[in-house]
Amino acid sequence: MEEVKKKRMLSGIQPSGDLHLGNYLGAIVNWAERTEEYDCFYFMADLHTITVRQDPAELRKRSLNQLAQYIACGLDPEKNVLFLQSMVPAHSQLSWVLNCYTMFGELQRMTQFKDKSEKHRDNINAGLFTYPVLMAADILLYQADFVPVGEDQKQHVEITRDIAERFNGIYGDVFKVPTPLIAKTGARIYGLSTPEDKMSKSVPDGCVFLMDEPDVIRKKFKRAVTDSDTGRCVYYDREKKPGVANLMNIYSTLTGKTYEEIEKEFEGKGYGDFKPAVAEAVVEKLTPIREEASRLIKDKAYLSDVYKQGAERASYVANRTLSKVYKKVGFLQI
Ligand code: TYM
Repeated sequence: MEEVKKKRMLSGIQPSGDLHLGNYLGAIVNWAERTEEYDCFYFMADLHTITVRQDPAELRKRSLNQLAQYIACGLDPEKNVLFLQSMVPAHSQLSWVLNCYTMFGELQRMTQFKDKSEKHRDNINAGLFTYPVLMAADILLYQADFVPVGEDQKQHVEITRDIAERFNGIYGDVFKVPTPLIAKTGARIYGLSTPEDKMSKSVPDGCVFLMDEPDVIRKKFKRAVTDSDTGRCVYYDREKKPGVANLMNIYSTLTGKTYEEIEKEFEGKGYGDFKPAVAEAVVEKLTPIREEASRLIKDKAYLSDVYKQGAERASYVANRTLSKVYKKVGFLQI
């Protein structure tokens, strides 16, 4: 029987901080579920990370921790290509070429650029501005069919599609035009202390990290912002009850229960019952991940084998696309 070629999936996370529940529910869960069905490439986006100043020793440590956590989340290195972006030079090489096929105005419209330049006013560097072009290179090098990301990255996948279509329009079908894959639930997890803003490591109080101990998780949920409703309090209303809606979203994503089922479960009960239940669901999910990641992080030799092999496998695919691009734009080949 003829083997059907698997579709390709690719995504990455910046090792700019410890992985958190937003990264997990918005992205990683969806990656791990698809290992068998797709040809999967996942990486640590360390080149992207230096658009904001980093402590070099910390960055190295976090990149390795992140790899251990990817594996602990269920990404088997035998079945998924796991690698560090900076170890595959083709990302930077294609990024330069694509810079010349991306318009200044397009980049100016990127929400993340506007947000980050607002936050880092003393360091609005060119890398921050051309960040989406590097991301386009990450994706297009691998001819990825799907890019599983949280909602905040959708705009970047869309500009990737525009760049690919522009390039293909000039040179023929060089790049696969990728589709963003946004989860139905979990695509936008908000901060527990600031339920109007997405969960982010920059607000550690309201951010649940994958490596948090159970008691730390319980404490964070206990302090989660809700409201002063005293009647029927657990129901979904994103506008009026953003804190509760966020907790319901987390609970629903982890347990598979619908909002109606959750409302029924907590009928006649208050936040004193609801918040600990959400905390327990999170603890139950994250505990084995934390334990496995802590075990793996001690095995430096194994992790370095994984990233070396990952870089080799990724480079093989990436270099084929790069060489096609170089030929198309008119560079002489060795
Ligand atoms: P990053 O590192 O900010 O986030 C990694 C992934 O986690 C998702 N995410 C969230 N999802 C739900 N709720 C949240 N609060 C939340 N916070 C983060 C993000 O949507 C993302 O999927 N530019 C990318 C990294 C990147 C990349 C790529 C992704 C570089 N090259 C190529 C895909 C393909 C970024 O900064 O994500």
